[in-house]
Order: sequence, then structure tokens, then C-alpha cells
Amino acid sequence: MGTLVESVAPVQQLDDEQLVAEILRLKRERNAVILAHYYQYSEVQDLADFVGDSLELSRKAQQTDADTIVFCGVHFMAETAKILNPTKRVLLPDLAAGCSLADSAPADEFRRVLEQLRAEYPNLVAITYINCSAEVKALSDIICTSSNAERIIRSIPENVPILFSPDRNLGAYLQRKTGRKMLLWNGTCIVHQSFSLRRIEEQLIGYPDAELIAHPECEDAILARAHFVGSTSALLRYTIESSRTTFIVATEAGIIHQMEKASPYKRFIPALPEQEGCRCSECPYMKLNTLEKLYLCMLRGEPEVHLDPAVIERARRPLERMMELSQ
Ligand code: 13P
Ligand code: SF4
Repeated sequence: MGTLVESVAPVQQLDDEQLVAEILRLKRERNAVILAHYYQYSEVQDLADFVGDSLELSRKAQQTDADTIVFCGVHFMAETAKILNPTKRVLLPDLAAGCSLADSAPADEFRRVLEQLRAEYPNLVAITYINCSAEVKALSDIICTSSNAERIIRSIPENVPILFSPDRNLGAYLQRKTGRKMLLWNGTCIVHQSFSLRRIEEQLIGYPDAELIAHPECEDAILARAHFVGSTSALLRYTIESSRTTFIVATEAGIIHQMEKASPYKRFIPALPEQEGCRCSECPYMKLNTLEKLYLCMLRGEPEVHLDPAVIERARRPLERMMELSQ
């Protein structure tokens, strides 16, 4: 992105409107593309070139001809962009934007468990959710997201054992949908795990016409009660197409911004967690990327995502297999 030559106002002196104008100016100057996940703050979503779920964002990152990809999402998403398009500079406004699911599968432990399992089942296939580190991707056979996982599992011959990692809720949901028994890693998402069926039932009493819609990272009992289960993009599409006008949304609350934009006359209520007063439906990692940090990262050309070229090489194959299987 080059060295800073112009003189710039201190970030504290810029209001939100000026920050947005500066971000857009820097984007043109640096030939950058801004990709944002649905869980980002509304103001970040609104200035992005593309907003989407993790599969759509991976595709955009793979196809872009911009010099720099500014990823407004979490670390594993920015790493995925780097793996799929390694000659590009990939920036993430806050490098601490991690993910509890990715943290639940440290690469050393994943390698050790995989080696043990492969000794027992030599033809085992490791299907790993995209919410994992680049090192774990490099050890896996195929990557999936919540929008293509079912298709990918069905593509594996019946007699081949599958290790599904790291989300045990998504894994259990897929087992039920496909009838396929799998070995499940024991990871969860701190946001989706916090929703409470007891409190959602209370919400449904208050809104008897509402439909409960849920991301498959939620617990089993919530998914069984939901009227519709899907990835963030699938949930958004469902609210647009449904004739219902009220929805209890059991996923990160950032998606409600796009739901309200697409259907301004419909009502979207964030599902409640067990703990009263907790802002659990907001992902603390996603929300690290503020407008200010986005501005500073575009100004300074950092923080940048760096990966070992050998890891990129090994992690690309399972990601490309995912892309091939989700055409
Ligand atoms: P999507 O693939 O549905 O965008 O989900 C990503 C994620 O992190 C959900 O918590
Ligand atoms: Fe990870 Fe959960 Fe945040 Fe998604 S919502 S990025 S799975 S911690």
C-alpha cells in the first residue's frame, strides 16, 4: 500500500461521515476492495464493496483483481482470502479478531488426533468447517461452510469415515440431515451456543406469528424448534421470500441490518441468550473492526495477514476442493 506521504488529520478529529469519506478515498488510491461479513457493524457493511457469508466472501477474494483486499471479518476469513489469492495484500482492521470455533481446534492437537484416527481408519476424510486456522486447513482434506457442508458430506462415499471439525452443533445437525454418522470435534461458537430455547419460547409467546430462524451453529434443541435453518445468506434470503412479517433471529445480530434493508416493513428480533442483559448475540471478535480501525488500517497498510508459503500451498487444495464441490 506504500508509505504515507500526505498529511492526515488525527483520527479523533474525524466524525463518522469524514471517516467514511477518507476510507473511500484511500480505497480508490490504493486500488483496494473492501469485503465485509454480515456480522460487521452496519456502517462497515454500508461502505463495503461486497457483503456476504463466508463462502461468498471467499469467492470474491479469489476473483478480485484489486491490489489489496481489506477484510472486514475475522482472522480465519482473511487468511482464507490470502490462501485463495496469495499475491494480494490482505489487511484485517484488527488482528485480534479471532473466532472461538477456530480456537477450539489448535493445529497441534488437530494433527495429533488426525494421526491417531488415520492409524485406525486409513481412508478417513477430514471435512473441516472454514472457521479454523490456516494450519488446520492445511491438515484437512476438504473445507466446507454452512452453505455447502451438506453437499460436501453427501459427495463422500458411504463407506468412508468422516471426521467433522470443529463445530459439534453444525456436525450434529448435518448428521441428522444426511443420516451420515461422523466423528465430531467438540468445538462451539460462543455466540450461537449462548442462545436459550427457554427464553426463545418466551419470545415466541410474545410474538405468536413470528418464525424462529437459526444458524446451524446453534444447539440441537433450538435447531429442532426452528422454522428455518441456514447459513447467514440463506437466512437473509428466507426472510425476503417468506410471507411472514416477524422473525426471531438466532444468529449474530449484525445480519439484521441487511434483513431490515431488504424488507423494511418486516420485524426482526434478536433471539435471547440465557443470561439476562448479556450482549451475547454480538460476536466480540467481529465487532473489533470499527470504522476507525478500518480507516487506520487503510491509511497505514497494516495490520497485514502473513502466512507461511508452505501452509498456503497445502491449505489451498482443500479450499479448492470445496469450491469445486460448491459450483
Ligand atoms: P456463514 O458462513 O453463514 O457466513 O457463517 C460464518 C460464521 O462465522 C458464523 O458464525
Ligand atoms: Fe466465530 Fe462465532 Fe464469531 Fe462466527 S460468530 S466468527 S463462529 S465466534
